[in-house]
Amino acid sequence: MTLWAGRTGGTALAPEVWDFLRADDNELLPYDIEGTLVHARRLHQAGLLDDADVREVEERLAAITLADFEESDEDVHSAIERLLGEVGRKIHAGRSRNDQVAAAFRLYVSHACAEAEEELRAFALTLLDVAATEAETPLPGYTHLQRAIPVSLGHHLLAWVEMLERDRKRFRFAGAQSLQSALGGGALAGSTLQLPPPPDAMRNTLDAVADRDFALDYLYAAAVLFTHLSRIGEELVLWTSAEFGFARLPENAATGSSMMPHKLNADVAELARGKSGTAIGRLTGLLATIKSLPLAYNKDLQEDKPPVFAARADIAGALPALGILVGGLVFDRDRMAAACADPLMRATDAAEALVKQGLPFRDAHEQVATTVRDGSFVAPEPSPGPGYMATRGIDVAASIAAARERWQ
Ligand code: ARG
Repeated sequence: MTLWAGRTGGTALAPEVWDFLRADDNELLPYDIEGTLVHARRLHQAGLLDDADVREVEERLAAITLADFEESDEDVHSAIERLLGEVGRKIHAGRSRNDQVAAAFRLYVSHACAEAEEELRAFALTLLDVAATEAETPLPGYTHLQRAIPVSLGHHLLAWVEMLERDRKRFRFAGAQSLQSALGGGALAGSTLQLPPPPDAMRNTLDAVADRDFALDYLYAAAVLFTHLSRIGEELVLWTSAEFGFARLPENAATGSSMMPHKLNADVAELARGKSGTAIGRLTGLLATIKSLPLAYNKDLQEDKPPVFAARADIAGALPALGILVGGLVFDRDRMAAACADPLMRATDAAEALVKQGLPFRDAHEQVATTVRDGSFVAPEPSPGPGYMATRGIDVAASIAAARERWQ
């Protein structure tokens, strides 16, 4: 039985129509329960539910599981109303599924943001552990993927941590955007029952049911995070290739080939890289869905949830797996040191040594470039290794300690 059976005289929807319209929103269950509890208290305050009704709502809500859902439930909201039994016939006073779904989805997104923060934290702390071990390990730094200036592996990993720290801010922002409650919006214009507003009620009833910016903010945070993971993934693929040979993949996070017995592949890094395309698609997809939608609610908005559910699952999958991969990498320090021993990577240092002696930089640049061209260039002291980063004004150990403070 639909929630609007009275309007259609009980005429059943064609099964094809029903299948098309049904929502893929099971993940909302705990959040819709949370929102329904808030609404029950509003009805109680207004005298529309008595103490026994509220107790009944609480008990029945606590017992609902996905196993109770039926094919005949259009969405999680219809299922909950049905499963509340007799008191369910009262619960929808002063609310619509329009404010109900927006309220539940906001709660979902705010939880997903908190979860992403925790997963980011675990990954960042793993990176910081590796960075601490490799704080002074020389690693070629690249621009244009050409050897540029030596850095340390610890310093490079700290750059990844910075990216993640900005991601954490974006999820915090999205979480804060989700915190207001859409309840009280009703279908679009509140209700003549004039129920007390929920805590943190949104100011405008049309906006309450039509706004999905919080979901866009979440998908944006996820898209940027995956863009970062794609850059990290790409570097992991490069570093663990035979051509670079900077690290070996841990066997518990690498995959073999069904045909080539010798292969060990960085599938985790590649999949994280690949999922960036999907993450970007989810953001642009929802933007396109919302674009030009007239206020207030339209059924188009049902499309907002699957991309958010999927992004949440991808974040929860990618970050721990990448943490295991990076945490288990076996670095070939000799190979990295050999790459850094390329004297040409010190050409900039040599030019700067001449500047310290009083030469204008452009002259120093030219002088060193000439020796590079004729093959007479000799790298200055000190060579990359412990203490080298300090000569560049970079204190890796202090940066790691400061980052740990921020992430603890
Ligand atoms: N399942 C719907 C959604 O996700 C709930 C709101 C339905 N509202 C309506 N007027 N049909 O958007």
